[in-house]
Amino acid sequence: MHSLTHHGAGRFHFRALHSVPVLAPALDIVRLSLHITAATVWVGGQIALAGLVPTLRREADRAVVQAVARRFAVLAWPAFVVLVATGFWNVAAVHFSQQSGAWKAVFMVKMAVVVIAGLSVALHQRSKSPLGLAVWGSLGGTTAVAAVVLGVALAG
Ligand code: HEM
Repeated sequence: MHSLTHHGAGRFHFRALHSVPVLAPALDIVRLSLHITAATVWVGGQIALAGLVPTLRREADRAVVQAVARRFAVLAWPAFVVLVATGFWNVAAVHFSQQSGAWKAVFMVKMAVVVIAGLSVALHQRSKSPLGLAVWGSLGGTTAVAAVVLGVALAG
């Protein structure tokens, strides 16, 4: 079953109401692909690095481990910037004011989680003690995964 929906500026298109899948409009594909690709670098990179560090520690000098970690930061922070920029694009695209109370609540939790994720990784990078590295590293990693789950909930 279909309904004719109006999307402003005289544009009409058919939207499936029941089980018929529809393709996302081109600009939505660009917006979400950028957001998700950046998430794969920020979140997946942390998981992969955490998995590789024990081997690096065993097989290579401390300087090598530190150089690899610093190089990951050069990849991860631009990805975080892309996440925040495309995140605001997402908010505009889904019309924040038209969302339900539950959606807005999940969004606020996600924003808090994203702030904690960024701060934790920044503190992890500056940390000198093993305890600081472990606490801020694991908090950064878990909040990053939480941001993914909350993002999927927001996308519906
Ligand atoms: C660590 C940072 C972030 C991660 C890992 C992340 C991850 C994700 C993921 C995986 C999705 C689901 C996309 C989909 O299934 O189609 C998503 C959606 C979304 N994200 Fe993020 N995100 C982050 C930061 C942000 C920020 C900073 C904002 C807002 C300023 C934001 C706003 C949104 C919104 C509104 C959606 C829903 C988009 C839609 O329904 O079209 N995200 N996010």
